[in-house]
Amino acid sequence: MRAKSQAQPNIALIKYWGKSDLARNLPAVGSISITLDDLYTMMCVESDASLAADVLMINGREDVALLPRVSRCLDAVLGGDREPLRVQSEYNFPMAAGLASSASAFAALVVAADAAAGTGRATAELASLAGAASGSAARSLYGGFVELENTGDDVAVSSICGASEWPLRVVAAITELGPKSVGSTEAMEISRKTSPFYSRWIEQQAGDLAVAREAIESRDFRTLATVAEHNCLKMHSVMWASRPPLSYWNSATLECMETVRGLQAKGVDVFFTIDAGPQVKAVCTPEAEEQVAEALRSTAGVKEILQSGLGEGARAL
Ligand code: DP6
Repeated sequence: MRAKSQAQPNIALIKYWGKSDLARNLPAVGSISITLDDLYTMMCVESDASLAADVLMINGREDVALLPRVSRCLDAVLGGDREPLRVQSEYNFPMAAGLASSASAFAALVVAADAAAGTGRATAELASLAGAASGSAARSLYGGFVELENTGDDVAVSSICGASEWPLRVVAAITELGPKSVGSTEAMEISRKTSPFYSRWIEQQAGDLAVAREAIESRDFRTLATVAEHNCLKMHSVMWASRPPLSYWNSATLECMETVRGLQAKGVDVFFTIDAGPQVKAVCTPEAEEQVAEALRSTAGVKEILQSGLGEGARAL
């Protein structure tokens, strides 16, 4: 039994922050994201009679930290009585730095495991299995602009518009390398339990989703930009008001936001979004990409720039 897959990370424009069921990892809110193209995770799942337990290799090195989550996800796809498996993943971008590496990893994992077993599950079911491992991973099963709906006892994921139908670009400014200070799962629970803004965040999400969905359907960049920045800053306000406060930004994060605002003032079609990490992702039109990349590259504190188009959902190779 052996199969390979590829998945790309996705960047949320309307964010998932908070869970309605921690045990089943159900998101408390819907979200909208874009799946990237140029950053990817390659995954290989194979059986090996000599193994006594699962083995996880990340970029050629054995990893024990992520192994329990990977084994649980494999149990969910293949059943708990499966044989031990060797899982090998390769990333072409820095992991655990707020670039959604867990999204591409678990999307690729469910696809590879399903292909290895020859189960042939539908994409919707694979999305739900990936989401149980990491909420944002459900969205990487689909390409382009993707919406995840919370249906109460599960998630429903669908594509709003394909990657080639509105080929926006993403310029990510890396301001710090290294793992994030508090993982999303733990941080979301801190917010749910302690942030005075959490309930307002949940209440307002349907409105933001509707505005963004309509902006995407009508290819209205400025409206999407306004609601995406608002939703991002609202999520970070929930985080800042948590106890203990969750602040993922550094001074370069703020510098990058200023750079984007400067470009906007000149009429450039660009907006920023920031996840649970200090990196700033600037979303822009293809015409604006080089100007945005140049401006962010010369912003104080930026270590590296990654550029990507929008791509397809996770697939077996
Ligand atoms: C800020 O999907 O990493 O990136 O379900 O606990 O694994 P878990 O969380 P995760 O959270 C992503 C949070 C976010 C916003 C988003 O991607 O929607």
